[in-house]
Amino acid sequence: MNSHAASLSPAATESALRTAGLDPARLPRHVGIIMDGNGRWATGRGWERVRGHRLGAEAVRTVTTIAAQLGIVRLTLYAFSSENWSRPQREIDVLMHLLRDFLRNEEATLHANHIRLEAIGQLDRLPTPVLKELNRVRSATADHTRMVLSLAISYGGRDELVDACRRIASRAKAGELDPTAIDASTVQDHLYAPAGGDLDLVIRTAGELRLSNFMPWQSVYAEYVASPALWPDFGEADFVTCLREYQRRERRFGGL
Ligand code: FPP
Repeated sequence: MNSHAASLSPAATESALRTAGLDPARLPRHVGIIMDGNGRWATGRGWERVRGHRLGAEAVRTVTTIAAQLGIVRLTLYAFSSENWSRPQREIDVLMHLLRDFLRNEEATLHANHIRLEAIGQLDRLPTPVLKELNRVRSATADHTRMVLSLAISYGGRDELVDACRRIASRAKAGELDPTAIDASTVQDHLYAPAGGDLDLVIRTAGELRLSNFMPWQSVYAEYVASPALWPDFGEADFVTCLREYQRRERRFGGL
């Protein structure tokens, strides 16, 4: 990730948007990306799948920087799903190493670009070195306000809702909340990142049209855009194309 701190002023952001042909008034606040196609990218070249993940980590750097430059408020990346724990142990190990290396190597850039790191998922399942690094970078960047980079790691949408139900039920049992008063905002308050809010745009790469357990609660009114690019190839031009597609959509939220 290159440091572009100087180019993150509001005027520079607006000019970057206009150059990209985007309307600053209609930018999605919260963008989620289902990063797909690392394996295909590598096997299509006769290489091991893990090589695709390594290049995928590079694409994370690029897209995070561009999202901050364009003024996205929150970017959630689906880095490792609950279901990914069933992959071969070697692939899991490589992904965990990549995550730890990303956290170590990119901390300076997060600071330079005023990006706060957050994470959602069943983080207690992560290997200790990854969790330690994650917690260290989360607290080191806690005061940044330009953009939140939220990594969904060991994340599953159903797990998130089940975990929320458990916490709500135990608070009700303890007499801390009235079961008849439970509403959508109670559930929202018990999600992994209550302040994260709804997703405006969900991008999935590699041309796939599935949700794969990614943030079902937060995406009820999200616009979905599929990019044909495999994740390691996904760059600035592809991201801007997805944002342009989003800006062509008419969002009605169930109204007329
Ligand atoms: C999907 O591709 C991608 C993943 C399961 C992992 C995503 C991880 C990264 C982009 C790298 C590490 C992340 C960070 C944040 C540094 P796939 O393996 O399912 O691809 P395929 O469908 O072509 O097999």
